[in-house]
Amino acid sequence: MAAVAEATTGWWLLLVLSAAELAVAHHPQPPNIVLLLMDDMGWGDLGVNGEPSRETPNLDRMAAEGMLFPNFYSANPLCSPSRAALLTGRLPIRNGFYTSSAHARNAYTPQEIVGGIPDSEHLLPELLKEAGYTSKIVGKWHLGHRPQFHPLRHGFDEWFGSPNCHFGPYDNRAKPNIPVYRDWEMVGRFYEEFPINLKTGEANLTQLYLQEALDFIERQHTRQRPFFLYWAIDATHAPVYASRPFLGTSQRGRYGDAIREIDDSVGKILSHLRGLGLEKNTLVFFTSDNGAALISAPEQGGSNGPFLCGKQTTFEGGMREPAIAWWPGHIAAGQVSHQLGSIMDLFTTSLSLAGLKPPSDRVIDGLDLLPTMLQGQIMDRPIFYYRGNTLMAVTLGQHKAHFWTWTNSWEEFRQGINFCPGQNVSGVTTHTQEEHTELPLIFHLGRDPGERFPLRATMLPRKCWSILARGRCLPGRSVFMELLFSSQEGCVPLWMCETTPGPLS
Ligand SMILES: *[C@@H]1O[C@H](CO)[C@@H](O)[C@H](O)[C@H]1NC(C)=O
Ligand SMILES: *[C@@H]1O[C@H](CO)[C@@H](O)[C@H](O)[C@H]1NC(C)=O
Repeated sequence: MAAVAEATTGWWLLLVLSAAELAVAHHPQPPNIVLLLMDDMGWGDLGVNGEPSRETPNLDRMAAEGMLFPNFYSANPLCSPSRAALLTGRLPIRNGFYTSSAHARNAYTPQEIVGGIPDSEHLLPELLKEAGYTSKIVGKWHLGHRPQFHPLRHGFDEWFGSPNCHFGPYDNRAKPNIPVYRDWEMVGRFYEEFPINLKTGEANLTQLYLQEALDFIERQHTRQRPFFLYWAIDATHAPVYASRPFLGTSQRGRYGDAIREIDDSVGKILSHLRGLGLEKNTLVFFTSDNGAALISAPEQGGSNGPFLCGKQTTFEGGMREPAIAWWPGHIAAGQVSHQLGSIMDLFTTSLSLAGLKPPSDRVIDGLDLLPTMLQGQIMDRPIFYYRGNTLMAVTLGQHKAHFWTWTNSWEEFRQGINFCPGQNVSGVTTHTQEEHTELPLIFHLGRDPGERFPLRATMLPRKCWSILARGRCLPGRSVFMELLFSSQEGCVPLWMCETTPGPLS
């Protein structure tokens, strides 16, 4: 009897064991997530998007092996709000990264400001912890430099990089150089322990950031734990830099040298993933925080391809970004998706990959792009273009409606600050803030990606026209959109009003 019982237990144990093994085989750990976020890199900087020098072979190959998104957008034309939107899945007007001190003014966190990411916001790495992820940020944080805003206080487990841009050098009396951190410790400063030679453009930062990425990936692989790597490097933000082997190698000058070094680094990250056998279990997404900074071009700024103006503006050049998704074995090679995508979708998509749901106690603006990446689905959705607290424009389908047009003030313009150098579209690239809320200025982005030929009212269906003529917000309220018609009908949305949380202080 005892022998039989023992045998039965043994058999049962064997069953349990093989079921557990099966479970492991069928539910491997959730995919790793690698977000490669560039700084001020433009849509037109990639060979695959038509850059004539064709100096991005690794990024072009990444696109050929995955999915290219030609219609992918930032959530703001400036770095801090855009990064806050990526990590919270929410528009800057919801997560606090805006100012109400001036109309249509973008807000960010230079070293002089005391504000930063509110504790009440749930950041992607905080949420990914629930699914066992280890998270690292490499490079620029830009969501506040005071202790309460430290990335390790907001879900990241590791950090190598800086709270701010690599501006400088400063005199260290009135203003210290910008610090560089490893986790909680300040390990040096730009222009000191981490030299940037403004004369030659030489700096080794991209190489350091690359090494950090390779090392982190390898360590997590050894631990057999899922990881989130947020590689937020900044060599294409003025002052642009590259290491010695890349300096002077581009057809495009120093900015191109920086691009070449980044392209080479992306190639090394992807081949490292392949080398460790992780490529089928790692989604890699490449994009940029805002459009190329044409104020710094052509020496220190990139290209927005056929799009109008650049960083700081809500024309296409300010917010349409290069974007590539790569996940061999899952995302089929050689695809182009015309899905309207947003940097905020990376939040929701990452949670979905991890098997998590976005927080339900707040509005999340990001969509889950997995159905697009894996099944080629196209979802109808608007893209909102904010400048500070002001909704400047909306795109739905092929149509873009501008409620406000503005480049920068005449005062700034006369001092030589120009967000649209060499581009003057009469009545569009205005230097006074022009209101079009009664009668939006509408472009067809398919036929006119450069926003040069506004549609006349008579070119729109009558139904759209009566919608456009209605409704306006009360002062002091921000604007959100309600979709009334599908983009197939060629209509743009009607507005509705909402109160919003307080601004960045
Ligand atoms: C970069 O690293 C090389 C090799 O270690 C070194 O010779 C060079 O001085 C470094 N350059 C800067 C700007 O730090
Ligand atoms: C742009 O062109 C318009 C008309 O063609 C002109 O009135 C305006 O002054 C120009 N603006 C700039 C900034 O050159």
